[in-house]
Amino acid sequence: MSLRVGFVGLGGIAARHLENTARRDDIAMVGYADVAVERAQAAAEQYGGSAYQDFRELYDQQKPDAVVICTPPFVHGEIEEEAAQRGIHFFVEKPVAIDMPMAHRVQAAVDRAGIATQVGYMFRFSEALIEVRRLLSTRNIAMVQAHYYMPGLPPPTWWPYMQKGGGQLIEQATHMLDLGRFLAGEVASVSGQTATVRDWTDMPEGYEPDGMRLWAEEFDIPDVTALVMQYESGALGTLSCSLVPQGTWDVGFKVVADGLLVTIDGGNAHWIGDEEGEMKAAEGYNAYVLYELYDQLIAGSTETSVPYAEGVSSLAVSIAGYESVKRGGTPVLMSELI
Ligand SMILES: NC(=O)c1ccc[n+]([C@@H]2O[C@H](COP(=O)([O-])OP(=O)(O)OC[C@H]3O[C@@H](n4cnc5c(N)ncnc54)[C@H](O)[C@@H]3O)[C@@H](O)[C@H]2O)c1
Repeated sequence: MSLRVGFVGLGGIAARHLENTARRDDIAMVGYADVAVERAQAAAEQYGGSAYQDFRELYDQQKPDAVVICTPPFVHGEIEEEAAQRGIHFFVEKPVAIDMPMAHRVQAAVDRAGIATQVGYMFRFSEALIEVRRLLSTRNIAMVQAHYYMPGLPPPTWWPYMQKGGGQLIEQATHMLDLGRFLAGEVASVSGQTATVRDWTDMPEGYEPDGMRLWAEEFDIPDVTALVMQYESGALGTLSCSLVPQGTWDVGFKVVADGLLVTIDGGNAHWIGDEEGEMKAAEGYNAYVLYELYDQLIAGSTETSVPYAEGVSSLAVSIAGYESVKRGGTPVLMSELI
């Protein structure tokens, strides 16, 4: 019998998850819910199944085994809680929320229901990064240095608003903070500074939006952020992120460990020191984060590699960064948030 799967939120990233799901002949795509109902209808037409405007109707009428939730960062809470109450397993895109109380509320619902969950931190499914984790596991890590440089503002309209997108640290650089935890263990404290160095509301002459945006009517997030992290192991970490247009995406990491320098570029890695090597992420590896949930459910298991609690812990590092900014850059202990 096929696993019955529904989808909530059918914007940019959902397209990838729909396509990847459609490649599997053991999944029945039964329904789609989006407040912009025409998006749900377009998915239903393309992939089969029913369209809804309200996610509750999808849950109650289709009774899916699992749902794939791809709503914006500020649209979380009831969607996950009501899935959990009905025993519907879920995949949710990062970030799991934009504040800790909501994340804790959903976690409590997940724990009560005993459902399977998975969060979309796809870098954890790159074999290159899994190998790096293995190499680092026997060495003392000294420094975890990450960056997330964007060539502009991503297109979704909610992005430039702190109360909707959460800011670059929560929305996007969460990938790097999660990877830091994956490779180097838990963070003990975070201190941060932010700035806005560009006037995003001043439209460049002859501006035509094309991909990343250079202009927004309103813009209330910082466009540059710098964090310093102390890991529980004693290692130090830094994260630099920027939206300021400079021509390219540049997303990566360096990890300094006793005897090894690792460089990570997206899902690929190379290392030098007492061992030398290079690995690339497999083509299409970013589908595995979703496929693992499907495979586990089909096998009758609720165990996954990135359950909701992992999403909560990675969110907390971003929140600690912004909290430190509010406190003038003084370190915030993770134990205050988790
Ligand atoms: N893992 C990754 O690499 C990756 C990449 C891109 C985006 N994302 C994440 O995916 C999430 C969605 O991003 P996006 O770019 O697809 O956004 P988007 O704005 O393109 O799509 C969001 C969709 O959710 C719908 N929606 C809003 N409220 C809803 C509700 N109450 N019920 C049902 N649908 C609702 C919107 O109408 C829209 O169609 C974000 O959290 C983002 O960070 C992850």
